[in-house]
Amino acid sequence: MNESPILLSLDDAIATLTLNRPDKLNAINMAMLTALEETIAQLEADRTVRVVLLTGAGERAFSAGADITAWSTLEPLDMWRGWIRDGHRVFGRLARLRQPVIAALNGYTFGGGLELALAADIRLAAEHAELAFPEVKVGTVPAWTGSQRLPALIGPARAKQMIFSGSRVGAATAERWGLVNEVVPREALMGRAGELAAEIAAQAPIAVQVAKQLIDGAMGQTTDLALEALASGLVAHTADGQEGATAFRERRPPQFKGR
Ligand code: COA
Repeated sequence: MNESPILLSLDDAIATLTLNRPDKLNAINMAMLTALEETIAQLEADRTVRVVLLTGAGERAFSAGADITAWSTLEPLDMWRGWIRDGHRVFGRLARLRQPVIAALNGYTFGGGLELALAADIRLAAEHAELAFPEVKVGTVPAWTGSQRLPALIGPARAKQMIFSGSRVGAATAERWGLVNEVVPREALMGRAGELAAEIAAQAPIAVQVAKQLIDGAMGQTTDLALEALASGLVAHTADGQEGATAFRERRPPQFKGR
């Protein structure tokens, strides 16, 4: 078996990322977080990839959460300095990935696993999947962006019900609450995820990627950054933008024309 904590497979325009610690129900430790960040950077730079699928190895879990053994032995300052901020950075990178991300929830999706799924754009769940934030059961709170993204997605009352009680939500309820987009029979999950990915990958990629930024902006997420990225892309490609860069390279004053 491949021991890498993140598997990446590329099939034309679709990249599939698999959380690969099935014996630990894909619990997220630092090695997995680091590998995830490296893979996200690779996908961000890859012009051929149009859609990213994210799933968990094995039959039982997408991910049963942050590795409790790993974080519970950290000093508070190390938790603050590293673990939590590392998670914020990596999950933020996933959420801001240019390409759409579809999470295929193939079983338990708990804690940090649910936070990772919430950083995706679209969630599909197998019928047997269960979703929960069990943090209060282990004396903590969701802190890899889940306490922010969950209420934004399903509203504060349902988010509070989930986070205060730690109780599991089945796939059907999750769909009703808007926590997952679709529920699919277990054996059909990856097929349906691939079909949706192919449908999106067949569309104009830049339009899809800009639409992602617009919608995230509309939801109050990264509005300023999205605006800045769109604005600089536009301005740099005006005639004046080209002239400015050319003049710099040629070590001469630019001749701006207002177009
Ligand atoms: N962190 C670290 N290890 C985890 C884990 C986690 N979040 N979730 C599961 N594992 C490990 C177990 O320790 C076990 O390892 P072992 O075989 O070396 O003992 C292995 O994964 C299988 O899990 P196990 O508990 O034996 O399976 P189960 O079917 O009895 O229970 C769960 C499944 C998901 C209900 C249970 O593992 C669980 O409650 N996990 C923690 C969920 C959680 O609280 N997540 C939020 C973390 S903040």
